[in-house]
Amino acid sequence: MAEEGSYTFSPDHQGGYPRAKQEQYSLYLRKLHQDFIDSWNEKSESNAKLSDFERYKVLGTGAFGVVYLVKHATTGKYYAMKALEKEKIVKLKQIEHSFYEKKILCGLNFPFVVYMKYYFKDNVYVYFVLPFIVGGEMFTHLRKMGKFEETSSKFYGAQVVLALEYLHSCELVYRDLKPENILIDRTGYIKITDFGFCKLIRGRTWTLCGTPEYLAPEIILSKGYGMSVDWWSLGILLFEMTAGHPPFFASDPMRIYEKIVAGKYRCPGHFTTELKDLIGHTLQVDVTRRYGVLKDGVLDFKNHKWFKEVDWDNLLNSRIRPPFIPKVKSPGDTGNFDQFEEEKLKESPVNLFEEEFIDF
Ligand SMILES: Nc1ncnc2c1ncn2[C@@H]1O[C@H](COP(=O)(O)OP(=O)(O)OP(=O)(O)O)[C@@H](O)[C@H]1O
Ligand SMILES: [Mg+2]
Repeated sequence: MAEEGSYTFSPDHQGGYPRAKQEQYSLYLRKLHQDFIDSWNEKSESNAKLSDFERYKVLGTGAFGVVYLVKHATTGKYYAMKALEKEKIVKLKQIEHSFYEKKILCGLNFPFVVYMKYYFKDNVYVYFVLPFIVGGEMFTHLRKMGKFEETSSKFYGAQVVLALEYLHSCELVYRDLKPENILIDRTGYIKITDFGFCKLIRGRTWTLCGTPEYLAPEIILSKGYGMSVDWWSLGILLFEMTAGHPPFFASDPMRIYEKIVAGKYRCPGHFTTELKDLIGHTLQVDVTRRYGVLKDGVLDFKNHKWFKEVDWDNLLNSRIRPPFIPKVKSPGDTGNFDQFEEEKLKESPVNLFEEEFIDF
């Protein structure tokens, strides 16, 4: 096991990702895209029910529902169960988003993102059951440590690059990248969760959604946008991991938006020149100049000098030693999560919003 602060990358790695390798890798991504589309087009049937699970603690809460740690009664395996209340989804006009969340989770298959193991619905909720990622949110570790060493930011950031590349090649825009939605697994690698704002797009989209500090200028300015918004939020994430705070912040969201569209921020003095350079190309208000959507696409990241120690193939195959391994006492340990009040699931004698959720 790695010790905290041990050197993560091999210093003699040559760096970069040759174009020929990228072409090969694109073939693999094309296959994953096809698998995703096949899953999307498949009419799937719910494959579990609430009574299959024993419910333990609350792991997190959001706008529409609650995430519980659960244990499958027959297999004994632990999962995270997200219960979304149909009434809240309808009131907040998020039926389409929640439908996308389900369809997308069912089709995902990549080392650094979660996937759907079971799903079902009852009279009050729809339920998504995902593998339980025991190390908790990156957010918790980041706040506890204040900020990460650049090697740690690089280790996590590089996985986010590969995850976004995968999602985009499936025609998915993620739209909610932030430390709360990045979980650390047992081995110290990441899993991106929360596909509540994720959407299949061909071309551009217009919806205003996301988290203020991580919104790209083109979203704030109500322009049509595409995958560029995820690369912007990667820039915010790299900054926040290494600084301990996001580049654009204020107590009032309107002030945050003004700062974002102005694109003015200051990097702390301890950032290396390479990191500042990479963030500069990523927090680029002008979309036509932003890394990730230029002619070389993701290669602008893979070949950037800040990432030169990263062996991308080894990373994908989890052959790089993580900078930190979470402390885990048992498979159902919630010690890496914040404490929440217990929440009882509501019940109803009638099937609420049956029509609206018929396709779930
Ligand atoms: N697979 C998982 N394993 C462990 N914890 C999880 C898992 N999925 C979610 N969580 C925990 O629950 C929290 C909330 O989940 P999620 O982000 O999916 O919902 P949300 O933020 O309420 O969603 P939305 O943004 O759609 O309202 C996460 O931040 C995380 O702490
Ligand atoms: Mg979330």
